[in-house]
Amino acid sequence: MPLKTILTDRLGLHYPIIAAPLGRGSTPEFLGTLAQSGAFGFVALGHIQEDELRQALSAYISSTGGADRFGINLVLITDQMRRLQTALDAGCGVVSFLRGDPAPYVRRAKDAGATVFWTVSGPTEALRAADSGVDFIVVQGREAGGHLTGEATLMTLLPAVRDAVPEIPLVAAGGIADGRGLAAALSLGACGVWMGTRFIASEESGNHPEHKQLVVRSKSADLVETTLFDGG
Ligand SMILES: Cc1cc2nc3c(=O)[nH]c(=O)nc-3n(C[C@H](O)[C@H](O)[C@H](O)COP(=O)(O)O)c2cc1C
Repeated sequence: MPLKTILTDRLGLHYPIIAAPLGRGSTPEFLGTLAQSGAFGFVALGHIQEDELRQALSAYISSTGGADRFGINLVLITDQMRRLQTALDAGCGVVSFLRGDPAPYVRRAKDAGATVFWTVSGPTEALRAADSGVDFIVVQGREAGGHLTGEATLMTLLPAVRDAVPEIPLVAAGGIADGRGLAAALSLGACGVWMGTRFIASEESGNHPEHKQLVVRSKSADLVETTLFDGG
């Protein structure tokens, strides 16, 4: 049964479920399967060479059925304005930013008519995101896989950000793996979930088979936190 929220209305989905960017795991096949099932996925563009980006985006447009049936993600630890412009020129209508200073990128994307997500780790950053004119704020708890942006867990962070920016729709990220997590996120004030680790284990993702098996075999106490080479 479809579940309607502002997220499903805005992106034309059946379910308020977003697959977070998963490095090279977010293949055209993976994002295409999500689009066909009424959900939505993002691809991180940072690992795609700038001169190959146009061609790579064509593969995603063709597998998902349209340039607004998937999202593009940029981690702003280096200048990504050219990649953003290439994606906007290709018609990409949904973009997300993590780290760095997204404000100028948000302006460029909004000027092109895109729907914009900004991942935050606390109320102060959420206020900046709201001021910049984003459409959705992704609230990332420290349970999240990949680069962490903050210290607080999702259960405490989500209500705090909800209170700080009552007018902006929030999407919950970090440690959500099934419908119970989705229900909890909705009851804490989110309009959908942004799941990464759980989707690594999906058949269609391009992640390494051993990586998938490790995710499937892991228990709740198997979390490991390391320092990343570029911080976070
Ligand atoms: C393998 C992997 C790669 C990721 N790469 C990115 C990325 O490039 N950009 C980004 O904004 N978030 C990235 N993330 C973080 C997700 O956006 C998201 O916050 C996180 O996966 C949510 O927590 P969960 O993994 O517990 O579901 C990545 C996560 C994983 C697991």
